[in-house]
Amino acid sequence: MSSNTQQTTATNYDGGFDDITHAMASPAFRQNPYALFEQMRREHPVYRSSQGAWYLTRYADVDTTLRNPHMSRDRERIARWQAQLGLTPEDNSLQQPLSQSMLTTDPPNHTRLRQLVNKAFTARRVEALRPRIETIVDELLDAAVAAGPSMDLMAALAKPLPVMVICELLGVPETDHQRIAEWSREFIDQASYVPTRESLQRYAPVVRAFEDYLRELIRCRSAQPRDDLITALITMQHCGDRLTEDELLGTCFLLLLAGHETTVNLIGNGMLALLRHPDQIRRLQDDSSLISSTIEELLRYDSPFQMTMCFAVGKVEIGGQTVHDGDVLFPILGAANRDPAQFLDPDRLDIARADNRHLSFANGPHFCLGAPLARLEGKIAIGRLVRRLPDLRLDTDIVQWRPNPRLRGLVSLPVVY
Ligand code: HEM
Repeated sequence: MSSNTQQTTATNYDGGFDDITHAMASPAFRQNPYALFEQMRREHPVYRSSQGAWYLTRYADVDTTLRNPHMSRDRERIARWQAQLGLTPEDNSLQQPLSQSMLTTDPPNHTRLRQLVNKAFTARRVEALRPRIETIVDELLDAAVAAGPSMDLMAALAKPLPVMVICELLGVPETDHQRIAEWSREFIDQASYVPTRESLQRYAPVVRAFEDYLRELIRCRSAQPRDDLITALITMQHCGDRLTEDELLGTCFLLLLAGHETTVNLIGNGMLALLRHPDQIRRLQDDSSLISSTIEELLRYDSPFQMTMCFAVGKVEIGGQTVHDGDVLFPILGAANRDPAQFLDPDRLDIARADNRHLSFANGPHFCLGAPLARLEGKIAIGRLVRRLPDLRLDTDIVQWRPNPRLRGLVSLPVVY
């Protein structure tokens, strides 16, 4: 095994897959989910759990499923699945604000919502952020270096940058950035990908506080429009159509969460991968034109968003298995991104990797709307960091991971320079 290859056998999971949600909550899985994914892909690539949920780990199955028109994200189907899990409509009302976004709709309503948001979230609006992102990164690094010669990279750069960028873009006042970051962290850390009454109740107060705050902000911008994304979303019209207040709320909630936590993980997981492969950092320092392929490789190698979810509409064949109407599926993006049938030497970090069609931004109708912004932030943050601190090194052997298996991210990342 090359020094450039992450050890994938050390935490091998050999207890069968019956209790997969339990396996995904284990400390060994948090340290290295790729050992379990590799075993699943080899032994049960289309795996049905004891709860009746399907887990997909092969690139071809994940990719086809994401693009399959016979797969649904409709919130009615989610509610039916949650009823099967023993949850009541009252339990579901606890997550109400999230449910009105494009993420939980199918075409044609999904197309309608996405077109409306796309019209406000333009490439021009994203590209215009470049100088501001560069300034924020430089200021954060100035502050960290002044306090040096060590820092927690998560606290110094990976966490503050994305929340500042998405909040400024939307028009959230600077004084509120910190509480948005805290609500978002609590929400993600408390959420369970198979929801239970307890998990919903745990994060209900955060959802309510977030909702009250956003409704007030939408009211303010409706009364006094500004040059920001919230105002653009309020006033946006497409073919005489516009977003309702609940849709606006769901969209702002989605943008603040999706546009923030995932990018934190790109910078955090990405820097950890680079720091564990000093030869790859040197390669990037020697040739800065590799920054775009570096970001794609970091997205593939330790995906910030590991697992998505959908429901079968009618009978669907996947990898020789029959999935029935209403069955829930979890296509595992992080597993697909390490499939040797798609990627040469997939456990190897190669910042110049060619033909890197990773699925970290998903695929099909729900392909990440914020991918250009995420890539821009990643390139500026990581590019400037490795140039400015050429002797950056990890200051720990063991890192601590956050609990949510869908969003893979670090608690902290101690470094010296
Ligand atoms: C590295 C950073 C990011 C990653 C890895 C990522 C990944 C993803 C993935 C996998 C999905 C599909 C989710 C699913 O099907 O369940 C998605 C959807 C989405 N993302 Fe991102 N994302 C990132 C950054 C962003 C940013 C910066 C924004 C916005 C500012 C954003 C906005 C969205 C939206 C609105 C959707 C829903 C699209 C739809 O349903 O049609 N994302 N993202």
